[in-house]
Amino acid sequence: AETVSSLLGDDELVVASNRQPYSHEREDGEIVVNRPAGGLTSALDPVVQSAGGTWVAWASGDADHDVTDADGRVGVPPEDPAYDLRRVSLSDEQVEGYYYGYSNQVLWPICHIDPSKMNARADFWEHYRDANRAFADAIADETNDNSLVWLQDYHLALAPRMIRETNSDVFCMQFWHITWPSWDALQTCPQYEQLLDGLLANDLVGFHTRQYCQNFLDCAAMLPDTRVDRATRSVVYKGRRTFVRPFPLGIDATNRRHLALSSADTRFWNEFRDEHDIGDTVALGVERLDYTKGIPERLAALEHFWETRPEWQGELTYVQKASESRTQIPEYQAIQDFVESEIERINDRFGTDDWTPIVYLNEYLSKDGLATLYREADLGIVSPRRDGMNLVAKEFVASQVDDPGVLLLSELTGAHDELGDESISVHPHDTPGFADAIETALTLPETERARRMNDLERLVHSNDVYAWITKQFRTVESIQHGRDVAKKS
Ligand code: F6P
Repeated sequence: AETVSSLLGDDELVVASNRQPYSHEREDGEIVVNRPAGGLTSALDPVVQSAGGTWVAWASGDADHDVTDADGRVGVPPEDPAYDLRRVSLSDEQVEGYYYGYSNQVLWPICHIDPSKMNARADFWEHYRDANRAFADAIADETNDNSLVWLQDYHLALAPRMIRETNSDVFCMQFWHITWPSWDALQTCPQYEQLLDGLLANDLVGFHTRQYCQNFLDCAAMLPDTRVDRATRSVVYKGRRTFVRPFPLGIDATNRRHLALSSADTRFWNEFRDEHDIGDTVALGVERLDYTKGIPERLAALEHFWETRPEWQGELTYVQKASESRTQIPEYQAIQDFVESEIERINDRFGTDDWTPIVYLNEYLSKDGLATLYREADLGIVSPRRDGMNLVAKEFVASQVDDPGVLLLSELTGAHDELGDESISVHPHDTPGFADAIETALTLPETERARRMNDLERLVHSNDVYAWITKQFRTVESIQHGRDVAKKS
């Protein structure tokens, strides 16, 4: 956080994301604050606290409005405000169309290369445009010529162009947290041109991997009147240059390691094992219930594994920690129902009085409980059909503080670019190959397991979330420096 603050120099940070870092709720008439629970908001919060500035985000509940001033601002953290949280109000109908609609039923399936799941309703697009306008207005209101606007993710693809309408000189950058698809896939989205037009109003666009950058440059090249400069990895369009760079997102690995070390509560683990009739060997999957995560494909591979290797029946238990997500969307309800019924069927097929093949956890699990699962698991299985990065893979690695386990990782994740060499690669759709990989992982000699995990830990710690942030601000600095030099000459 220190480094970022010094890298920022005179720049004033304005961050914008769909989700907010703090939310307010009414409980028994009192207003209580929910702190960042995980993921991006909790990682960025200390940075914005140290740098100061403003964070613009969607206000999710009524109590959020009760604590803000007339412009929608509130100082956070509440006990010692370090920056302003500026809340954008959206009606229920707008949220339906912008978040559940266009963001998650058009952009999400397109970017995850599953266009058959796209629902390109015209009203979704209208709400997406309106919500981006509401964000852009709030952001423009918070910026001056010294501002550095940092937009997060696919919810805000149109905002940069809209911000430029009021402030043509402000430095805008955006990090796209999911996959950027190839041109063929993007073209299935009816608004591909407007999306590219919006994103190309940024000075810098970041993706997790080189491949996504390459895909983005290829897509930009298809737009009329663009010039893609492969040497500098930038696009010249409507009189400005947008740099395109990979910044692989990491986790707060030190914090995750501390959590794993401090959660050495063997009582929790022993009770958990007894309660669920777990085998001696444990495999773990942790995810939101999302069709991109490849849970049905993983269950099929496990079923095949137990069927073809009966000696592992009674020995290997798979624990699936799942959390509900985007439940208003039919595809998400369907995946939840399917996963639950498949688990029931497989447990009926193989389970015995003292052994459960699959333990399904879909309720709240404490931070410590999750840390224990991560630490104790012998295999971490991360097998999405498609994933921009996947931080669960990194969380599993950083939690292996005791008796190193093995990571099985889908080659269709961004994380595979970094961690693929030292994990056991799987292809989610190759059921027998996936089952073979489970066997390979389970039978790796201990020294080999330790060597691989050691290398993985090194990678996860050196490419952590702070490195991710620092690399981006260094790039901003060099772009700004290049522009200053060009102006002077
Ligand atoms: O991976 C993209 C992402 O938006 C993450 O930033 C976030 O953690 C996750 O999807 C969950 O999304 P939502 O905000 O829709 O619950």
